[in-house]
Amino acid sequence: MKLGRNDPCWCGSGQKYKKCHEFFDEKLAEFRNRGVLVPDHSLIKTKEQIEGIRKSGLVNRTVLDYVAEHICVGMSTEEIDRLVYEKTTELGGIPAPLNFEGYPKSVCTSINDQVCHGIPSSDIILKDGDIVNVDCSTILNGYFSDSSRMFCLGHVSEENRRLVEVTRESIAVGLKEVKPWKCMGDMGAAIHEFAMAHGYSVVREIGGHGVGLEFHEEPFVSYVSRRGEEMLMVPGMVFTIEPMINMGSQEVFLDEADGWGVYTEDGKPSAQWEVTVLVTEDGYEILAD
Ligand code: MF3
Ligand code: CO
Repeated sequence: MKLGRNDPCWCGSGQKYKKCHEFFDEKLAEFRNRGVLVPDHSLIKTKEQIEGIRKSGLVNRTVLDYVAEHICVGMSTEEIDRLVYEKTTELGGIPAPLNFEGYPKSVCTSINDQVCHGIPSSDIILKDGDIVNVDCSTILNGYFSDSSRMFCLGHVSEENRRLVEVTRESIAVGLKEVKPWKCMGDMGAAIHEFAMAHGYSVVREIGGHGVGLEFHEEPFVSYVSRRGEEMLMVPGMVFTIEPMINMGSQEVFLDEADGWGVYTEDGKPSAQWEVTVLVTEDGYEILAD
């Protein structure tokens, strides 16, 4: 059913369609007609939803800050899990990973050649020289946020520290490309080129995702994509930028024993940073980091 120009806009603003998203929809249709993949209205968040995701992201950031204060050599990843559970719930949130598709813990902790989705365990003790990704996701009042950081423990080798730094910088490189009416492929390609220029490779099979009303929404966000390809970015979209960058080859494998952990095939280290980002009228806003 076509919305009348004087009907209330579909975005929930309460404004008339003609004063709100009518021009936006026309622009979207132009892109669609040119063969560009455009987001469904359901992927465009309302003001209220954005505020909810922003608050969720604030909890997620506070939890990661708390981990940053406490993480140290000799600690088990189970202890990180407890820190995350306790801080998240103290702030009124729920750790999104807990029971997500059967995931047994509140956070993912991935060390060295572990690429992502490492399950915390009391048997896994952080060692001097480890590089570890702590990936936190929060549900607050039904709104989801997702971000992760790397931690360098004790005496980390120069080359591993560089991998961590370059991966962190790759987020900034990708963010520069986040502007309305550009394609996600512009962002993915920028990250890929940056990683390759440093002699690294980027994981293909696992990527980012829309986020906000659910943990994982459309679209799949690739960091090996091509400019001018993938979904159009428009104001109100929320997604993650979370490249996994490998020192060696891009090949990874799944740990069949636990069904979650992903490792590099060649055993070389991998790093990942993640932010939740909102596309705004003139660029982006980081909602969780
Ligand atoms: N936080 C991860 C992401 O960035 C998802 C982990 S799913 C879990 O998408 F179940 F392993 F937590
Ligand atoms: Co994510």
